[in-house]
Amino acid sequence: MKTTVAIVNKQGDDFSLEEVELDGPRDDEILVRIVATGLCHTDIHLKDTLPEAMFPMVFGHEGSGVVEAVGPGVSGVDVDDHVVLSFRSCRTCGDCANGLVGYCGAAMTLNYMGMRTDGSTTYSRDGSPVFGNFFGQSSLSMHAIAYADNCVVVNKSVDLTKVAPYGCGFQTGAGTVLNVLKPGPADSLVVYGVGAVGLAALAAAKHLRVGTIVAVDPLQSRRDAASTYGAVGVDPAADEVVGKVKELTGGGASYAIDTTAISAVVKQAQQSLRSRGTLIALGLGAEEYTIDALDLLQTGKVIRSSIEGDSDPQEMVPRLIGLNAAGEFDVDGLIATYPFSEINTAVADVLSGRVVKPVFVW
Ligand SMILES: NC(=O)c1ccc[n+]([C@@H]2O[C@H](COP(=O)([O-])OP(=O)(O)OC[C@H]3O[C@@H](n4cnc5c(N)ncnc54)[C@H](O)[C@@H]3O)[C@@H](O)[C@H]2O)c1
Ligand SMILES: [Zn+2]
Ligand SMILES: [Zn+2]
Repeated sequence: MKTTVAIVNKQGDDFSLEEVELDGPRDDEILVRIVATGLCHTDIHLKDTLPEAMFPMVFGHEGSGVVEAVGPGVSGVDVDDHVVLSFRSCRTCGDCANGLVGYCGAAMTLNYMGMRTDGSTTYSRDGSPVFGNFFGQSSLSMHAIAYADNCVVVNKSVDLTKVAPYGCGFQTGAGTVLNVLKPGPADSLVVYGVGAVGLAALAAAKHLRVGTIVAVDPLQSRRDAASTYGAVGVDPAADEVVGKVKELTGGGASYAIDTTAISAVVKQAQQSLRSRGTLIALGLGAEEYTIDALDLLQTGKVIRSSIEGDSDPQEMVPRLIGLNAAGEFDVDGLIATYPFSEINTAVADVLSGRVVKPVFVW
């Protein structure tokens, strides 16, 4: 069938709306009519940095929509189901069996190769392949091919525009707090970089009634958004950041999260922890980080990463929808909707800090 996608023709190009051919659904595939798709910084980063051989490419990994067709081998998802799309996992390897599907041994193959495991692409144009299958969805599109393991069926009363970002950005920030760090009222949390991922972490920290919350970001608009979750804002241009965070947290934060992927910032995040504190580095884009080795040796600190906040989307997406409905995960105000035709404006708006989470609707 024909469909319209926001395609990136060459590394670093803008998105452009073009008609392509969509193949499938095959035996294990699900055809989804996309209602809304969030934009994550990972889409922007990879559009500008993936090797030229990976283009033309259709990105998008925060899709939501309505199932139009299912392959004969699919179970658990039916025509007319409303679904939130997330990342793929094999659901059979050791990490998957332990519920840690973000660390699936097949994660690269299933999410990042731009094609099915047999080497075919779901999209094509004039008979030539167009890379897709991004996070098993490539949902910057009017229609997407997805799979049972990354389709989360949600109640038809749920607003698909609000929950599209639960598939990646909001799940990652929230999961890092709810699954990995699990802070409580006696703890303090500092988040470096409060865009979509960082603010979702703050929303989860507010839900857990974390004692002291600090948000470091050079953008006033982002610090203002962080203050709605009870965070004290720190401007890295105005303050000596590590000293300020230590002052605000009574000697150092119990927990830190970095979403900037800037080496100097990750080092500040490490240094602003108290002894035996934990830093989770979530950002994508750095090749190396510099750690303060003496500080690490003397303090027993933990530095680790997390994929998608250690979430299983089949568990985390419904959990966040439930918390949101109860007024306990209040991220609706972070969303700015755009028609798909304004996707390049949205990229500029998120980078300038004018909006937090663009969500595109057809
Ligand atoms: N680990 C994962 O599974 C996972 C999942 C989703 C996104 N990500 C990554 O997380 C990162 C954040 O994504 P996002 O969508 O929230 O991006 P975003 O652009 O919305 O947020 C990044 C924030 O960092 C701030 N920032 C820039 N320089 C800073 C500095 N020196 N000090 C403090 N803050 C600074 C920016 O102002 C912005 O508010 C990206 O690198 C993305 O690729 C990782
Ligand atoms: Zn697996
Ligand atoms: Zn993402």
